[in-house]
Amino acid sequence: MTDQPKTVPVHVLQRLGTAIFEANGLPKEDAAYITECLLYADLRGVQSHGINRASNYTTRLKKKLINPHPSLAVDEVMPAIARVDGDDGMGFLVGRKAMQEAIKRAGTFGVGMALAYRSSHFGMSAIYLQQAVDAGMAAMVMTNASPAMPVWGGRSPFLGTSPFGLAAPGADVPLILDMATSVAARGKIRRASKRGEQIPEGWALDEQGKPTTDPDAALKGIVLPLGGPKGSGLSLLMEAMAGVASGAAFGGEVGNPYLDLDRPQSTGHLFMAFKPDLFVGGDAYRERMNELVKRAKGSELADGFKEVLMPGEIEARMAAERAVAGIVVPPEDIAMLNAEAAAVGIEGLQEFA
Ligand SMILES: NC(=O)c1ccc[n+]([C@@H]2O[C@H](COP(=O)([O-])OP(=O)(O)OC[C@H]3O[C@@H](n4cnc5c(N)ncnc54)[C@H](O)[C@@H]3O)[C@@H](O)[C@H]2O)c1
Repeated sequence: MTDQPKTVPVHVLQRLGTAIFEANGLPKEDAAYITECLLYADLRGVQSHGINRASNYTTRLKKKLINPHPSLAVDEVMPAIARVDGDDGMGFLVGRKAMQEAIKRAGTFGVGMALAYRSSHFGMSAIYLQQAVDAGMAAMVMTNASPAMPVWGGRSPFLGTSPFGLAAPGADVPLILDMATSVAARGKIRRASKRGEQIPEGWALDEQGKPTTDPDAALKGIVLPLGGPKGSGLSLLMEAMAGVASGAAFGGEVGNPYLDLDRPQSTGHLFMAFKPDLFVGGDAYRERMNELVKRAKGSELADGFKEVLMPGEIEARMAAERAVAGIVVPPEDIAMLNAEAAAVGIEGLQEFA
């Protein structure tokens, strides 16, 4: 096995990921879309939510904890609001469908919302925020997730590190804020563990409630909420809106994708889309958005900064670079993809090993 990261062209990973998921029972079109979502995270530099998760999804597909052929039933609760039954399908498909429903309704009513239940891990929130932005919509995305973080004042895992997402189109740079409610996403800790690296102080506590920089001790303990009661409060409210209200599991009961290998996750999500140019009109809205970005970027710089960046801008720049240069895949992920390929009798990334 190589001990160096390798740069792999996106189309090579796309072909391989699609073939692996298809061989694990997903229809080809869904396999291709899910691979695209994972590679979109890799392109954006969010590698904790990229193709390195392939083996966890295939494990859950093999154990029939993810339904490869879900029928995504849409219940029109009110004209502007839908509820999507994810039928234990891949979260990426449930999320895409629910955001489509929110966007469709926003096209008619100016605002649209969809709550999804019986879903599973849906990856990076930016996928769904971008989907809305591409349709000219502002958006909000919420999800709940398996317990990893204490509620403020508690010391055992209760809340998800659930990402909170907001997006606004209109400026030359769309604003896409996609942030875990923990100090750092747990995927980053899992990734440090795989790579034998330490994590920074302040990210997590071990099982005894002591600060740790050891990712394995952190994974057994708790991840700390962003800004103490503020991150805990945001995650708790997402439990209420995406979990309690949708009919999904909630309050510590969402299944852990890695540890709960005997039941579906039963995750819940909330997707909201609205037309941001309804109020001041399209041209004025776009001008005002560009003016906002211009003023923000024109701020006097703090020490150590070369420029002011908008939410989502680092990721968009990296995606543009990596789409051309390819994705840097660490050796453990090359080995994992080769093992997945071998398990279903297809060619892997031997030329990169
Ligand atoms: N599905 C799940 O259950 C789950 C759980 C946790 C996290 N996640 C995903 O993990 C990913 C990583 O989350 P994270 O919180 O670690 O991300 P992060 O800390 O890297 O970034 C958070 C946000 O801050 C912005 N940002 C970062 N640096 C910036 C700068 N210098 N200037 C301006 N803006 C800046 C980013 O554009 C982003 O919008 C997200 O995509 C999230 O959706 C998913």
